[in-house]
Amino acid sequence: MIIDPKIEKYAEEFSSHQGAVLNELFRETHLKIMNPRMLSGQLQGRFLSMISHMIRPKNILEIGTYTGYSAICLAEGLQEKGTIHTIEIDLELEAIAKKYFRKAGIENSVVAHFGNALEIIPPLDLVFDLVFIDADKENYPNYYHLIINKVRKGGFIVVDNVLWSGKVVQPLKSGDKDTAGIFAFNALVQQDERVENVLLPLRDGLMLLRKI
Ligand SMILES: C[S@@+](CC[C@H](N)C(=O)[O-])C[C@H]1O[C@@H](n2cnc3c(N)ncnc32)[C@H](O)[C@@H]1O
Repeated sequence: MIIDPKIEKYAEEFSSHQGAVLNELFRETHLKIMNPRMLSGQLQGRFLSMISHMIRPKNILEIGTYTGYSAICLAEGLQEKGTIHTIEIDLELEAIAKKYFRKAGIENSVVAHFGNALEIIPPLDLVFDLVFIDADKENYPNYYHLIINKVRKGGFIVVDNVLWSGKVVQPLKSGDKDTAGIFAFNALVQQDERVENVLLPLRDGLMLLRKI
């Protein structure tokens, strides 16, 4: 967590509530699933929902489904008949994610892909209005290269964990591939003239990009 926990709690209290289904998913993930800190949570979830409502996307791509929390938040802003494609490598997460897609009433709007995103993205023949990157940090630059030509002009990309618990302002330790991936990604987009970007210090850092 980058910001003072009291400030984060206050920000959560003065943001809309996530609702009963996401509340239940949050609790079940914390009770039954490894690494529940990976789930976006109330504040970031409401931010993703708000962004999606602002864009009203027809097609969303998410890389890193985990238990489905952020996919449900993003789907809240979909156009009627819009679709969210979400990719997860861990097949053990399929049952819980699909259970909550049903509970959230979005099962017909979600295409849940299971496998390695590096292999699943290239053959996806779609143009996306919104992409959320939230999988293995080492591959962030690779994901960016794979999706950038699939995002429409004026479309948006949101990327999680770009402050990586503050490690981005500390010396890089040898062998730390995750932090190296975040460093490389942040540098890559900062000099890429195809996008405008703003790094928001929300939760673990969110990079918001607009393709120009
Ligand atoms: C931080 S979690 C995603 C959290 C989710 N977006 C949320 O906010 O609730 C990252 C997920 O990416 C998945 N992942 C890691 N490497 C992947 C890959 N190469 N392809 C697809 N998914 C991957 C992990 O198994 C994990 O479930």
